[in-house]
Amino acid sequence: MSEICGLVVHRNRVVISGATGFVGKNTGRFLARNGFDVVALARKGRTDFGKTLKTQDLTEKNLVRHLKGSTAFLHLIGTGRQTAENDYETVNVNLTKNAVALCKRAGIGKIVYLSGLGVNKKSTLGYFISKFKAEQEIIHSGLDYTIFRPSYIIGRGDQLSRTLSSQIYHHGVVVIPGSGKYRLQPIFVYDVAQVIMKAISGRQFSRKIIDLVGLQTVTYNRFVRDLVGKAKIKHVDFEKSYHDALVSASSPFGVDDLSILVGNYVGNHRKLASLSRIAFTGYDKMLEACSLS
Ligand SMILES: NC(=O)c1ccc[n+]([C@@H]2O[C@H](COP(=O)([O-])OP(=O)(O)OC[C@H]3O[C@@H](n4cnc5c(N)ncnc54)[C@H](OP(=O)(O)O)[C@@H]3O)[C@@H](O)[C@H]2O)c1
Repeated sequence: MSEICGLVVHRNRVVISGATGFVGKNTGRFLARNGFDVVALARKGRTDFGKTLKTQDLTEKNLVRHLKGSTAFLHLIGTGRQTAENDYETVNVNLTKNAVALCKRAGIGKIVYLSGLGVNKKSTLGYFISKFKAEQEIIHSGLDYTIFRPSYIIGRGDQLSRTLSSQIYHHGVVVIPGSGKYRLQPIFVYDVAQVIMKAISGRQFSRKIIDLVGLQTVTYNRFVRDLVGKAKIKHVDFEKSYHDALVSASSPFGVDDLSILVGNYVGNHRKLASLSRIAFTGYDKMLEACSLS
C-alpha cells in the first residue's frame, strides 16, 4: 500500500465483476495464488478466493469505500444468451457503463474487459453489437483499458464442453450443426488468467484491443471429435439446428451461439504471444484439462 497525493493506492488489489463465472473464478484464484489481493463482486453466492462483496448492478454506494485505490478492475459480467429480464443492452452495455462509473468513483485507473472475437462496428448480430457498444463505453471512458476479444475459452467446466457433455448425457449423441467445417481458435483458461495478470500490470497492454486466441485453429468437426472421444456424433442440417435454436429453450445452442459458432472466427495469436510472452498451452494439453477428457 502507498499514498499518492493523499489517495491510498493498493498496488496489488484487483476487483473482479462476474467473479462467480467461469473466467472470473479461474482468474480470481490464479491472481490470489500470485499474491494479488482480490475483491470479488457477485450478485449471489461467494467465491473461494479473496473477499466477496455483494452487488446487484455495481451502483451501490457502499462499494466505493471498499474498492478505493485498487489497481485494476476486471469486468467479466456478460451474457451470450438474452432473456426478457436479462437482455444484451441491460447486461452487456448498461452494466459496463456502471463498471466504468464505479472505477471513476473509486479512483481505479485501469479496466480490463472481455469482449468477443468477431466484434466489429459493422456487425448485425445483437450479441456483437452489445459487445461493440460496451467496448466503446470503455474506450471513451478516459480510463486506461485493455479489451480482449476471446475465442472459446476452454478448461474444466467451460460452457462449450458443458454443452457437449449435456448432449451426450440427455441424448447419447453430440449434434454438429451443418458441415462442421467452420473454425475456432480455443484458448486455455489458465493462459487467459496469465495474460490478464500481465495486462493488469504491463504497460504494453495499455489502450489496446487484442484477440484472445490460442495457438491452433481447428474445425468444429475436429474439436468435437477430439473432445468427446468415442461418443456418437450426428450432423444435423443447419436449417433444422437454427429452427430448434429459435423455438426451443432446450436447444443446445441459442440463435446467437449458433451464429457465432458457424461464423468461422479466428484471430491474431502472434500479436497476443508477442505482447504477453507467456508459454501458451498446446491444443492437446488444453483438451486433457477439459471436463470431458
Ligand atoms: N467463456 C468464453 O468462452 C468467452 C468467450 C468470449 C467472451 N467471453 C466473455 O467473457 C466474460 C466472462 O465469461 P464467462 O465464461 O466467465 O461467463 P459466465 O461463466 O457466464 O459468467 C458470467 C458472469 O456474469 C454474471 N452476470 C451475468 N448476468 C448478470 C447480471 N444481469 N447482473 C450481474 N451479474 C451478471 C454472472 O453472475 P451469476 O454467477 O450470478 O450468474 C457471472 O458471474 C463475459 O463477458 C463473456 O461474454 C467469454
